[in-house]
Amino acid sequence: MALEQIAADLIPQIDAELQELTRSPHHSLGAYYGMFHYHLGWVDETLAPVGTVGGKRLRPLLCLLSCQALDGDLYQALPAACAIELIHNFSLVHDDIQDGSRTRRGRRAVWDIWGMNQGINVGDGLFALAHLALHRLSGRGVPPRRQQAVSLALDQACLALCEGQFFDMAFEGRLDVDLDQYLWMIRRKTAALLATATQVGAILATDDARTIGRWSQFGEHLGVAFQIQDDILGTWGDEQVTGKSAASDIRDRKKTLPIVYALNQSEQRRAAGQLSDLYARPAPLDEAAIQAVLDILHNVGARQKAEELALHHYCLATEHLEETGLDTAAQANLRQLASSLLGRQA
Ligand code: IPE
Ligand code: IPE
Ligand code: MG
Ligand code: MG
Repeated sequence: MALEQIAADLIPQIDAELQELTRSPHHSLGAYYGMFHYHLGWVDETLAPVGTVGGKRLRPLLCLLSCQALDGDLYQALPAACAIELIHNFSLVHDDIQDGSRTRRGRRAVWDIWGMNQGINVGDGLFALAHLALHRLSGRGVPPRRQQAVSLALDQACLALCEGQFFDMAFEGRLDVDLDQYLWMIRRKTAALLATATQVGAILATDDARTIGRWSQFGEHLGVAFQIQDDILGTWGDEQVTGKSAASDIRDRKKTLPIVYALNQSEQRRAAGQLSDLYARPAPLDEAAIQAVLDILHNVGARQKAEELALHHYCLATEHLEETGLDTAAQANLRQLASSLLGRQA
């Protein structure tokens, strides 16, 4: 089956579960739960229904397809897949506040509409709902041992994500970030949750620790490739397609892969020095400085380097997938999903 068909089959199931999980328990709370529904893409800012989808639902898809590839039960995996998506969305609501980003998925960010204080509270609510989602596992016949393993993996990923966000923000004020430190940061802020998605899919289908470890490695490398691609889109992407404001990473002096590569250029020291001077200015960088940074990135071939590194981690991811020893038919959907992420435009 083609990936589009698989997504068309699974995403409505994911969204139905998410809708149940985020249903307002009382009419007086409609305005609060309405903000969750807005962020998840089902209503507009007046809370009237809209037909858009709030995001790619990549993490729950990875979780469900991993479980399916190992002959697991999708019905059992669905609450866990949705817990991971809720954690992702908690992190996005807070990330837009932390990054000062006013646009998310082509619409106003939650905090831009309802203010920062309510934005923090929306993120916190999504975080709590993610944990409540896991309580559904017992009602679906998941053995307690597996429930505990899923819960541990999710909490470890949440903490790693916050650690990564700490470095992401701390790096804004630093010029001495090298490639290893960059990878250390993105493994936490992004790859940890993708690794948890594939790992949890495996945990719900098998008790074999080696197999679970391989699935986790697959998700981790895919997550690294995914964030590097996000950095490429954040630098050169089309705002209309990404749904996020262009060049905001540069404005905020983020240490994205293209920037880290250019700053650590030993062969083109002049370019590295010029970039350091620009990035030493106080944020937010103005339009002229952003353009000068883009020129330097172009001159040192930073985009090509970023694409090469994303490809490298994508290849490592697929190697781990092959190591799982599954026949290619069982892997086919995941391979398709993984390859669709490379070179993605949104
Ligand atoms: C964006 O993630 C944030 C990153 C970790 C790079 P996605 O690109 O998966 O966001 P949505 O959910 O599809 O909008
Ligand atoms: C991605 O952060 C990681 C998390 C949200 C935890 P970014 O700031 O790089 O992602 P976008 O580009 O805003 O989606
Ligand atoms: Mg951001
Ligand atoms: Mg960020």
